[in-house]
Order: sequence, then C-alpha cells, then structure tokens
Amino acid sequence: MARHLITSALPYINGIKHLGNMVGSMLPADVYSRYLRQRGHDVLYICATDEHGTPAELAAKEQGIPVAEFCAQAHDAQKAVYDGFALAFDYFGRSSSPQNREITQHFARRLNENGFIEERAIRQVYSPTDGRFLPDRYVEGTCPHCGYDKARGDQCENCTRVLDPTDLINPRSAISGSTDLEVRETKHLFLLQSKLQHEVEEWVAAHEEEWPQLASSIARKWLTEGLHDRAITRDLDWGVPVPADTWPELAAEGKVFYVWFDAPIEYIGATKEWSDEDPENRDWKSWWYESDAGENPVRYTEFMAKDNVPFHTVMFPATELGIREPWKMVDYVKAFNWLTYYGGKFSTSQKRGVFTDQALDILPADYWRYFLIANAPESDDSSFTWEHFTATVNKDLADTLGNFVNRVLSFSKKRFGDEVPAGAAAGEAETRLGEQIAELLAEYETQMEALQFRKAAAALRALWSAGNSYLEEKAPWLEIKTDKDAAALTLRTAMNLIHLYAVVSEPLIPTTSKAMRQAFALTEDTATWVTPEEARALDSVPTGTPFTVPPVLFAKLTDEDLENYKERFGGEPA
Ligand code: 2FM
Ligand code: ZN
Repeated sequence: MARHLITSALPYINGIKHLGNMVGSMLPADVYSRYLRQRGHDVLYICATDEHGTPAELAAKEQGIPVAEFCAQAHDAQKAVYDGFALAFDYFGRSSSPQNREITQHFARRLNENGFIEERAIRQVYSPTDGRFLPDRYVEGTCPHCGYDKARGDQCENCTRVLDPTDLINPRSAISGSTDLEVRETKHLFLLQSKLQHEVEEWVAAHEEEWPQLASSIARKWLTEGLHDRAITRDLDWGVPVPADTWPELAAEGKVFYVWFDAPIEYIGATKEWSDEDPENRDWKSWWYESDAGENPVRYTEFMAKDNVPFHTVMFPATELGIREPWKMVDYVKAFNWLTYYGGKFSTSQKRGVFTDQALDILPADYWRYFLIANAPESDDSSFTWEHFTATVNKDLADTLGNFVNRVLSFSKKRFGDEVPAGAAAGEAETRLGEQIAELLAEYETQMEALQFRKAAAALRALWSAGNSYLEEKAPWLEIKTDKDAAALTLRTAMNLIHLYAVVSEPLIPTTSKAMRQAFALTEDTATWVTPEEARALDSVPTGTPFTVPPVLFAKLTDEDLENYKERFGGEPA
C-alpha cells in the first residue's frame, strides 16, 4: 500500500467552469484517485478554490457585495457542481483560509531569511480619487496599437498585445472612472528567482524523464528563457497580507501577496484545513513535510492544463527550493492540452461551449465523465462536438454497457426467476472469455497506472464489448429452447461480467457502477478491486444470489436531442 497525494489545479473562484477545465484537471485527478483507492492505496486528493486576485475583487464590485461574501458564495456554487460530477475530493478548501495565510507568510519569511526576497521600488499608477494604487487590470484606456478604447492595463483584448498601464492613451481608473491618475513610486517584494535558476534546472533534470513530454517541454522552454525576479506583492485589499513582523512598512501600506504566490501554497493550506477538522486522525504534515513522512514516502501527482505547467514545474518549485525546508515537491505532472468546442475556443465571455452546471442540467455526470475521459486531450487538443458526444453515449454507454446489463438481467429474471441461476459447469467458451477478460483488465490497469486516460477508457470499452461478443456467440435466447442448463450458464457468466464491470468501471462512472453492484444482493457492497487473475474465473457472484433489474442505465440520445443541444449551445464557432 502506497501513499498518494493528488492535487488538481485550483479553479479560480469567479465563474462556473466549462467542460474544458473539468477534463484538464479535476476529472482525471478524481478518476485516478478513485482507481488508487480501489487498489487499496492510501490516497489524499486535495483541491480548493483559488480566491485571491483582481478578478475576484472586480467580480464582487460588479455585484456590489464584499469580496469575502462573493468568494464564500462562489465557493459553494462551484462545490455544488463538483458534487454533482461526483468528484470525491478528500478536501475541497479555500485559498483565503487562515491556514493558507499562515503557511504563505511562513514561506515568505523563510525565503527572506535565505536571501531570496528583496524590496524594490517600482513606479505604479496611483489614483487619488480612489485613494489607492491601481493594479494593471484596474487601469483602462485606449490601446496605443489599435485604438480600442477599453484596453486594460495588462493587455488589449482587441489586438491581444501585452501592455503596461503607462502605455495607455487617456488612462482612467476602472473603479471610479477617474482620469486624475498619477505615477508614484511604491515598494514591492521581489522573489529572486534568478538566484534559483540553477537549482530548479537540476531538479527538473532529475524528474523530467518521467514526466509526459508536454510537461517537460514546457518546463524546458521556461528554463531556457531564464528565471526572472518577479514582484510577489500587489496593492489590493483582498489577499494574504504581507507579515508585519518582517515587513512592517509594506504591511502598514496594506500590501498583499500576488495570487500566484499563495495559490500553489494552498495545496498545503487545504491539507491543513482538512487536518484541522479532525486533528486526532489526520496529519497534514505527514503528507507534505518529508521528515515527517515516516517510512512510507508520499508519491505526489499533480493534474493541470498546459497553461499551468510553468507555474508548477518551474515557479513553485523555485519557491519550495528557496525555503530550505523539506516540503514535498511534485513527483509527476500530468498535463493536458485543450478541449476545444468544434475546434474553437470555449469562451466564457462569448458564451460558447458547455459549462459544467449546464452539462448536469442536461444529463447525469456519468455520461460526461465517460465521454470526457475517453476523449481527454492528452497527446493533442481534442474537440467537443455534440455529434461525437451523442454517438459515443449511444454506442458505448447505452448499447455496449447499458443494454448488456439490462438484457442479461431481464432475460434471466423472466426465465429463471430472481436469483443467479446455477446451470451447467463452465466450458470452453467461458475459459476463453476468462482469458480475454484477464488480458483486457491487465491492459486497463497498465494504462491507469501510466495515467493514459484515453487508452484506459479504450481498454474498459473493450472489456464491455467482450461481454457482448460472448452473449452473441452463446445466444442464450436460443440455448433456452434446447438446453436450459446451457442458457443458465451463459446468463450466470454474463452476470459475473456485470459485477466485474461494476467494480472496474467505478473510476469513470461511479454512480452507474454503484447501481450495477447493487443489482446483486451480496452481503457486502464493495468496489474492492478484482485482479486479472481473480477476474479470469468469473465466479464472484455465487449461484443463488438474489438480483433485481436496475432501471435503464443510459438513455439513448435521439436526433431530436442532438438538434436541441446544438440549438441551445450553438454549433460550429465562426
Ligand atoms: O489557472 C488557474 O485557473 C489557476 N487558478 C490555477 C492555480 S493552481 C495552483 F497553483 F493553485
Ligand atoms: Zn489593441
């Protein structure tokens, strides 16, 4: 039994996420966590909302509520959707927690003691009307390149050019609209990443061979460009305050840490939030502090989309290395490409694509979980289309799995009653089937362990198909006419397949899996893994076990459904 720490990139607090976010972080992390738990490992899956930063402040302002209140509501709204997706976090925390504040401040103090933080004066836009410095996004004006009049201080949305607020023509405050702006000198903390370049390089070199190519190539690219010192504080009301014991002047000015400084620390913070809820039984430090890990070291796997990779393979490791304390660093970075919507971008502002709450409005989580994992953007971007989605649901979920389960159980009930029938002893066809199942299951395990989700889903689908082929070959509806015992053997074997499917499909479709397991009145409802060797015998559901026929597991989607979806969400992007 190994200890697995698993985290997925922390979703920003503002806005319900779309399917692309889900498939590139939380969903595969959940699938992997569930798989490892079933295999008997000690798993801790941690995630949280990433709550600090200007977008949260701006969204709260727009709604006219205090930012803390906005975040509390938005956290609950996101959590409800993730519950709906059956994401089994061990803990889903909040980066605005006192735990994260404490650990972030500790990290900053340590970095400072070790000579990796420096105070530097920079010139920034100040608004006397608002009585504050304006972070880049809080300054708006006309783009000097394209003339767009709502360009933000960090970037022009129209021509996408990166800007400095001082580049803007006719700049104004995004808060008050005031044009009475001046440039003042102000002090900020800088993380001297340049001093850590060499150590980060060595650390990456020691790990990248194991990482997927996507993760290591991005890390390499950033290292080649060189690590630059960067400001890790901001003039905002909302964030982890700079500790007054170390920087009294900056603390008095109300400086807070930049969101990307405290966000990755929240992986640790959230673990402490989890531990603080039950300190007798939970020890956060044993997961994160290597000298407290004991004899059973932790294996740490992170899940994220490619835009997050630089932060997790280079920037945060630099922070962790600079602390000079044995905090756990990531072992494996599972990175994803983009899921597109008809080949174009999912877009929140243009309302293109499918958001996670809308998805659950339409169909239960398992439909989405299966489709997304089977089409995870692993080696390349992959495209979501309603045509592909409905075809996959109908073929794999409704026909191959759902129909098999219903056909077998209803037919057996009709002919043999409410218990798993006895019938003849297993013969040559069952031996062949057992071997095939053992092989496919081994393939499925191999792909899960390699975190190859598409391939794992393909192996699972092949397992389901094997049951269909067996059933077609044996044709119990014909056997029953001439040899009742032979038909009973076929049905008993097929029911054992159903139970096996119920167990091994759990990581992808947990709700359906449970319904399938519960069709059988076994003394214990357990999703404990079945190894290929055990599966070969196809005898885990004993003869005489009472069963019920569950309601249709997956509804078939019609042409009309397809048209409705396309109409509601829009088809191809322009
Ligand atoms: O890209 C994002 O959505 C960030 N909120 C991810 C943060 S991951 C971690 F560092 F907190
Ligand atoms: Zn522009």
